[in-house]
Amino acid sequence: MKKERIAVAYSGGLDTSVIVKWLQEKYNADIITVTGNLGQKKELIGVKEKAMKTGAVKAYMQDLRKEFVEEYIFPALKAGALYEHNYPMATAIGRPLLAKSLVEVALKEGCTAVAHGCTGKGNDQVRFEVSVAALAPQLKVLAPVREWEFKSREEEIAYCEKHGIPVAATKKNPYSIDENLWGTAIECGVLEDPMVSPPADAYQRTIPANLAPNKPTTITIEFKNGVPVKLNGRKMPGIQLIDRLNEIGGKNGIGRLDMIENRLVGIKSREVYEAPAATILHFAHRELERLVLDKDTSHYKSKLAADYADMIYNGLWFTPLRSALDAFVNETQKVVTGLVKLKLYKGGIEIAGRKSPYSLYDTKLATYTEEDSFDHKASEGFIKIYGLPVKTFYSVNKNMLKKKK
Ligand code: ARG
Repeated sequence: MKKERIAVAYSGGLDTSVIVKWLQEKYNADIITVTGNLGQKKELIGVKEKAMKTGAVKAYMQDLRKEFVEEYIFPALKAGALYEHNYPMATAIGRPLLAKSLVEVALKEGCTAVAHGCTGKGNDQVRFEVSVAALAPQLKVLAPVREWEFKSREEEIAYCEKHGIPVAATKKNPYSIDENLWGTAIECGVLEDPMVSPPADAYQRTIPANLAPNKPTTITIEFKNGVPVKLNGRKMPGIQLIDRLNEIGGKNGIGRLDMIENRLVGIKSREVYEAPAATILHFAHRELERLVLDKDTSHYKSKLAADYADMIYNGLWFTPLRSALDAFVNETQKVVTGLVKLKLYKGGIEIAGRKSPYSLYDTKLATYTEEDSFDHKASEGFIKIYGLPVKTFYSVNKNMLKKKK
């Protein structure tokens, strides 16, 4: 009988290493590992070799950075998508792409199933599985961590030792960390107590604001149709631009976030994030939109931003609704071209200037000098009619605004 083939989303960490062996034993299957490079810095060295040593028959390393930036990060940036008004969603935006790359390999390798290492109480299992269901409904999805017998890290390590699986000898990191180009998510350990402020060692890519330089760093970012294309006057590809902003922002203590958030599975969780580039780019993009979008589109778009963020967070990336929202967002971005100047200083971002060929700011209308061209007299009639419903209501209900004594 032909052996079953399973493609595993593999990070090289303890859980996914155990998964390779565990699936191989349980299903008598050939395991193919798929690791996605989303711009995480430290995790990728030696991962392929490790997968082979752990028993995989084939190990893929997929460089997904360009696609991640252009097809995932930038659409979310253009939409202004921040979950619960704050979280730029590095993890959440990355999952559908990892699922897509896993599916591609699975189909190419003739696999009947894919597997991931997400736990049964997080958002990531949903993002993975809903994405796979959309892209290749015929594939089975296995989630070993939800069903296996191991109850602790120690038991998993013992299993590795028994099977000769290489485990990193380094001391256990007290946190669970997920990292990519768009940001880092840090949880577990002492962070589980919402009253404990994150210890210095929780942060991976930013310095504390009080240690940041005493002089502000001024930068300029240029956008074309909502996408950042130049940093400090230099044209650069998205990956490089985000990399640079992570560095500059990190040095200025920008992009830290300590958040209680609502998971899709109903749990409130405490998560610490670092996303210097994402924080700066969302700020800059928003400031440019203030200059170029007309009032109604701007107000409407910010309502839609919350829906768009919910969809990403809740695993609904590959959906007809998101495609439709993208069409709306892209229409609005036709005028989001221009330059934003920012000052970064001790963890804060200040706007220092903005300009655009599509600027709707009209000095002649706004000025209080003699250049003023606004028709002041027209306001009188406008206010009379605009305030008419209010006037009518209170002429009838005369005492309604009076304070009760
Ligand atoms: N709570 C975030 C989310 O659902 C991040 C989860 C990432 N995991 C971690 N190990 N910190 O998108």
